[in-house]
Amino acid sequence: MAKTIKEREEGVFLPLAPMEYIPVGEVGEEAIAVHWQEEELIQPKEEFIRQANMTDVGIYERFSEENYPECFKEYADMLCWDRYWTQILDASNPPFFKWFVGGKLNACYNCVDRHLEKYGNKAAIIFAPEPEDEPYQFITYKELYRRVNEFAALLLDMGVKENDVVTFHMPMVAELPISMLACARIGAIHSEVFGGFSGKSVAERADDAESKVLITMDSYYRSGKVIDHKARADESVNQCKETKIEKVLIWERYPGKYSSSTPLVEGRDYLINDLLENYRGRRVKPLSKPAEDVLFLMYTSGTTARPKGCQHSIGGYLSYVAGTSKYLFDIHPEDTYWCLADIGWITGHSYIVYGPLSIAATSVIFEGTPTYPDAGRSWRIAEDLEVNIFHTSPTMIRMIRKEGPDEPDKYDYHFKLMCTVGEAIEPEVWRWYYDKVGKGEAAIIDTWWQTENGGVIGSNLPALRAMRPGSCGIGMPGIYPVIFDEQGNEIEKGSGKAGNICIKRPWPGSFQTIWKDPDRYVETYYSKYSKVGSKDYRDYCYFAGDGAVQAADGCFRILGRIDDVINVAGHRLGAKEIESSSGTNEEVAESAVVAKKDAIKGTVVDLYVALKPGFEPSEELEAKIRNKVGTDIGPIARPSRVHIVPDMPKTRSGKIMRRVLAAISNKESVGDVTSLANPEIVEVIKNQVQGQRESVLV
Ligand code: WTA
Repeated sequence: MAKTIKEREEGVFLPLAPMEYIPVGEVGEEAIAVHWQEEELIQPKEEFIRQANMTDVGIYERFSEENYPECFKEYADMLCWDRYWTQILDASNPPFFKWFVGGKLNACYNCVDRHLEKYGNKAAIIFAPEPEDEPYQFITYKELYRRVNEFAALLLDMGVKENDVVTFHMPMVAELPISMLACARIGAIHSEVFGGFSGKSVAERADDAESKVLITMDSYYRSGKVIDHKARADESVNQCKETKIEKVLIWERYPGKYSSSTPLVEGRDYLINDLLENYRGRRVKPLSKPAEDVLFLMYTSGTTARPKGCQHSIGGYLSYVAGTSKYLFDIHPEDTYWCLADIGWITGHSYIVYGPLSIAATSVIFEGTPTYPDAGRSWRIAEDLEVNIFHTSPTMIRMIRKEGPDEPDKYDYHFKLMCTVGEAIEPEVWRWYYDKVGKGEAAIIDTWWQTENGGVIGSNLPALRAMRPGSCGIGMPGIYPVIFDEQGNEIEKGSGKAGNICIKRPWPGSFQTIWKDPDRYVETYYSKYSKVGSKDYRDYCYFAGDGAVQAADGCFRILGRIDDVINVAGHRLGAKEIESSSGTNEEVAESAVVAKKDAIKGTVVDLYVALKPGFEPSEELEAKIRNKVGTDIGPIARPSRVHIVPDMPKTRSGKIMRRVLAAISNKESVGDVTSLANPEIVEVIKNQVQGQRESVLV
């Protein structure tokens, strides 16, 4: 039974006692230490608590280790099952875990059909086009049902079959969730590649997934420009090496008006909106799928040049995102919820599409950027649509603050809850978010998780725990984080020492494996702190690849990636991917990528390059290398600077010392470099890099 506000006042609930500041201790060399002062606690407003979905502090007990894994039944029961599952967790073959075994369901049915009776005429999706003179599109659950069904019928006729992987390269438009749900309806697996990625990136992922069908759009708006997106599809098809994309299905930004200068290829390219004329009123029965079948792939960067296809299940994933959307994001069917992330990343999949729609939310999709045409854009949308839950990343918050620090005051909107994701948020930025954007009224949740995790794993339930700027909070219910040092010793909370954050037990939202690469899955996530080979699942501990510290009150502060992954503006980029793109220039002998701190984007990419003999450095060459990365991967991966250096600092065994380069980029101490094979180069590079003008090219 939910506890009342009275019990809260009597002290059953928080507030937590403010803790003393404990300085961050020794941090591993790769970890980006964040030496923030410990902040005070801020309580959510009573008005928020009164209406919150989860006000029962008993939830932490219900989801404690003693009640694991049965606790996750609570999330599974938020869904409709065609056949109820018989086993909650099959851990007989660790670390390949199966959830809700024996159960059958359909994700599309759960996100659309089952809401028709009660919420059929309510908006499921509100599409906010970038041009402000274009009207909002309110897509009700009935309308969504109609459109998803018609497109599902079209996909079947196109030869898409159960368990085929369909690759998407779609911008932020309502047609993206419609396409995702249509695939889910017929049991096909979707693999959306972020719309800003290059045709080559799409080709690599389509090859890996063996996709024969690509779904894209002719064009879209971005910061006032019409982007000819179909051109990317031609690049993708031409650059596929292992698979042949046989069909390219193209949505039109303006139905009936093909808005791309790229010609259609006869027999390969199909205009979806034209074909849909033939599918009016068609219905497709949702396919009942085993819980452990695959819902989608989401590629993410790792420590090699090859992106990893994180494979997400239907039953476990959907249960987890439904549960967290309800309890953490506090979404009620009456709310208007707006997440600014791109659906091309995991946040959009879980918390624009599947999570919110599974619990009958109204979810806003915005085509543009929050600072175009001016920094008041977001607040006009919030005011127009009466958005009351707002979700974005620290980079966006920093950007909106820089462009329009007082803009929120000019608009009449009221948020009950605000969320941040993707990077650590500086307490000072947090405060601006709280005071200005939230007008001092809204609760804030800082949500820590990863593409691999399916849903949030570290955050405070907003009506139950106080906020502490800069900390994500504790493990979500049923998630038991632990910090280990390099030797595998547990680091005690409150010790002030940083280490590697890991999760002790599997949870339903977690990915099942890396697509077609189970060895890499085990190696990357379960080799460092697990007893590989053991049949006891408790010997397996998920290694997240993030550094963290835990305060005495149990709250975690995430310090950043400890592997070769760089987080630019909340987007994960693989250092190796960028280095291998740089290496494809004939002039380049060696490349090394490092993260440089940046006031807006958190970090940006600095690329160090050494040339082959016979080539000379020049500004043109720097620009060429930079642009090559932009073309190969996408504009977000373009380095802020390319430094052509005479040689790389190296260990005696020939390993490039990125740590030294990172220190130079960030104007920090390079430490003792006498053990390097070529210590004299450090001073040369330092003079070259630090002597340059500060301008950043992105
Ligand atoms: C980082 C995004 C600090 C972290 C959902 C993680 C965060 C990576 C936070 C995953 C947060 C995410 N505080 N850091 N609240 N949330 N990160 O896969 O380094 O795109 O490993 O998933 O973002 O990025 P991904």
